[in-house]
Amino acid sequence: MKVNGRHYRTVWLAGSTVYLIEQNLLPFEFKIHEAKTYQETCRAIRTMLVRGAGAIGAAAGFAMAQAFLAKADTAKAKKEIAATRPTAQNLFYAVERVYNSRAPAAEALRIADEDAESCRKIGELGNSLIKSGMNIETHCNAGWLAFVDHGTALSPIYAANNGGKKVFVYVDETRPRGQGARLTAWELKNENVPHAIIADNAGAFLMSRGKVDLMIVGADRIARNGDVANKIGTLEKALAAKEYGIPFYVAAPSSTFDKNCQSGKDIPIEKRSQDEVLYQTGPTKHGKMEEILVCSPGSKAFNPAFDVTPAKYITGIITEKGIVKS
Ligand code: MRU
Repeated sequence: MKVNGRHYRTVWLAGSTVYLIEQNLLPFEFKIHEAKTYQETCRAIRTMLVRGAGAIGAAAGFAMAQAFLAKADTAKAKKEIAATRPTAQNLFYAVERVYNSRAPAAEALRIADEDAESCRKIGELGNSLIKSGMNIETHCNAGWLAFVDHGTALSPIYAANNGGKKVFVYVDETRPRGQGARLTAWELKNENVPHAIIADNAGAFLMSRGKVDLMIVGADRIARNGDVANKIGTLEKALAAKEYGIPFYVAAPSSTFDKNCQSGKDIPIEKRSQDEVLYQTGPTKHGKMEEILVCSPGSKAFNPAFDVTPAKYITGIITEKGIVKS
């Protein structure tokens, strides 16, 4: 995707340094972070400086390659990288591939290229589901920033928009971290796609009033039976979409499928810090990033980061190889 006229990938490797777009600063500041060691890349994944299934997959593959390039204890490094975040399958897929390769850096670069190409194809295939004039709802950020390039749920929307179809996107804000309100909205604005951010609780109402023609979301892990783990809040949208007869599609590359998970019950769900619910971060009037308390002082919060949508609520899964009916 282009930012200020220049094409960027979300994450890339040059020499033994990993370069990452600092997603925690977006949409307020666009900055590239340099991670010079595998431990620094692990920190970037853990703190969500880089986030989104494909992007953390590529970053994890690069981290594994960094460990080989530095002649570190690679078995130990593999464990550390795998412990950064538990839900996105792409992370484990990339670490395994690079660890078992005879040319780790080349393999990590190949994984990143494959991710970008799969997402481009998902855009091409998913575009066939979009008719001009459609209102589309999406949850979280499954766009360019969540992958190496193009994205998954947003890729068909970009393809449709670039091809001259009229589309309008309702962007779920996606509390607590606001990946929709901050990242998806920023991406859509950069790509000149008409859109509106909606509060997370507004989706079912819009669906009930016929305002949503199609829902497309991403995925962090897909079980053998077609159950899908995605950002917390996805399940409620799927239930509402079913009730109102709205097609509910998941877009994901094959690297997100986990043949070792029989069903959604086997997918590990990340629990994140309560501070993500209790506090919000943003710039003050003077541009300084600050955290402010937005909940009742002293109350505790519970923060599961993902939920699982059973296959029966999913109309189909858009992959780089084709659209699979659920
Ligand atoms: O916690 P995040 O921001 O890394 O969440 C992962 C996601 O980006 C979403 O669940 C997304 O919808 C899946 S597609 C990458």
